[in-house]
Amino acid sequence: MINSHPESKDLAAIRDLFPITRRSVYFNHAGTGPVSIPARQAMEKYIALFAQQAEMPAREYFDKIKQWRTTIARVIKTSAENITFVHNTSEALYIALMNIPFEPGDKILVMEEAFPAIRYIVNNNLPHVDKVFVPFLKRDALETIKKHYDKRVKAVVIEHAHYLTGEMFDLDPASEFLRQEGIFLVVDGIQTVGAIDLDMSRTRVDFLACGCGKWLFGPSGIGFLYIDKKCLGSLKRTHIGWLGAQWKGFEDCKISPALYPDARMFELGSRNIIGISALVANIRILLEYGMKNVENNILALKETMRERFLALGYDILTPQKHVQSGILTVRPPGDVQAIYRSLNEANIIVSLRSNALRFSPHFYNTPGEVDKIFSILKKQ
Ligand SMILES: Cc1ncc(COP(=O)(O)O)c(C=O)c1O
Repeated sequence: MINSHPESKDLAAIRDLFPITRRSVYFNHAGTGPVSIPARQAMEKYIALFAQQAEMPAREYFDKIKQWRTTIARVIKTSAENITFVHNTSEALYIALMNIPFEPGDKILVMEEAFPAIRYIVNNNLPHVDKVFVPFLKRDALETIKKHYDKRVKAVVIEHAHYLTGEMFDLDPASEFLRQEGIFLVVDGIQTVGAIDLDMSRTRVDFLACGCGKWLFGPSGIGFLYIDKKCLGSLKRTHIGWLGAQWKGFEDCKISPALYPDARMFELGSRNIIGISALVANIRILLEYGMKNVENNILALKETMRERFLALGYDILTPQKHVQSGILTVRPPGDVQAIYRSLNEANIIVSLRSNALRFSPHFYNTPGEVDKIFSILKKQ
C-alpha cells in the first residue's frame, strides 16, 4: 500500500534546496536531475580550495574519500568497501563486464530493449562472447532467463527499470536462480537508485551500475559501481590502476601498496573530487528525508497520475506491477507533439520519447504540480 503524498507546505524546505522548483514543474528526473543548492555549495567549496591551495592535504583527502564512500553506500544500504567511483553508468557496466571471466564461446543474455549504454559496451568489447538479445519487457524476468538459459550462459545484463516505460524488475527471484547456476547478474541501476528504496544487503546482484545525473541530482559525469563481495574471488581483475591500492600518503611513490581486496581496487587513478562532493551532498538530502519516504512520495504521485491519465483516455505504457519505478510513460489519444509543446510552454518539463510522454517526478514534487499538469492536458 502506497502512502499518501505529504502536503506541499511540508515540502517547502526541501523544495528550497532545489531552485528548479521555482522555475518550472520539473517531472524529468529520468532524463536529467537538477543540481541542489548543497551540491552547488560543495562544488564551489572545492573549486575554491583547488584555486587557493591546489590540493587537499593528504590526511583530509583520505578522510573525505572514506566518509563520502560510506555516505554513497547508504543510499543502497551497503557498506563503503562495496562501492567504486566511476564517471558514468557505461564505465560501471564496462568494469563489470570486463571482469567477468568469460571463456570463448560463452554467452551473455542482454536485455534487448535496454538504453544504448548496455548495447554499445556489449557489442564492442566482448568479441569472443555470444550475445543473445532477449526481450524482457512485459515478461517475468525469471521465466525469461530460464527460457534462454543453457550451460554456456555466463552473465545476464538488464536495466533495473526500463529507461522508456519505467517497467521495473523484481530482481530477487531471478537472482536466486542465477546464483544457483553460477551466472553473473549485471544491473543498470541509473533509473532506480535515488528514487527507490534499494537494499543491497538483501538483493543479490553481482554488479549494480549507476550514473548520478538523474535521480541522484547530478551533476553528470560522476557515478558508482556496487560489486558484491561474493563474486570478487572469481573476477578477472582487469581495469586496475594505482588508486586501486591502499595508499596512506603520497610522500613515497616508489612503494607499491597492496590493492584493496574489494570493489575499491577498480579505481584507476585520480578521483573527481568536485563531482563526488556534489553527489554526496545530494545523497545526504535523500538520506535525511529517508529513502522509504522518498519512494513513497514518488509512487503516490505516480499512482494519482495514472488514474488521471486513464480518466483522460491515455494509453499507459508503464505496466502495473508489484514493483514500480518513478517513471510513468503515457501515449495521448491526440497529437503528442502538440501536447508536449503545450506542456513546455507552461514550463512543465517532461520527456518526449518514441511518441510517448515520460513523466518522472521526484520526492519534492507536489499534488499541486500534478493539478497544473492536468489543467494543461485537459485543454488539449
Ligand atoms: C537506463 C539508462 N542507462 C544508462 C544511461 C546513460 O548512461 P551513461 O551514464 O553512461 O551516460 C541512461 C540515460 O539516459 C539510461 O536511461
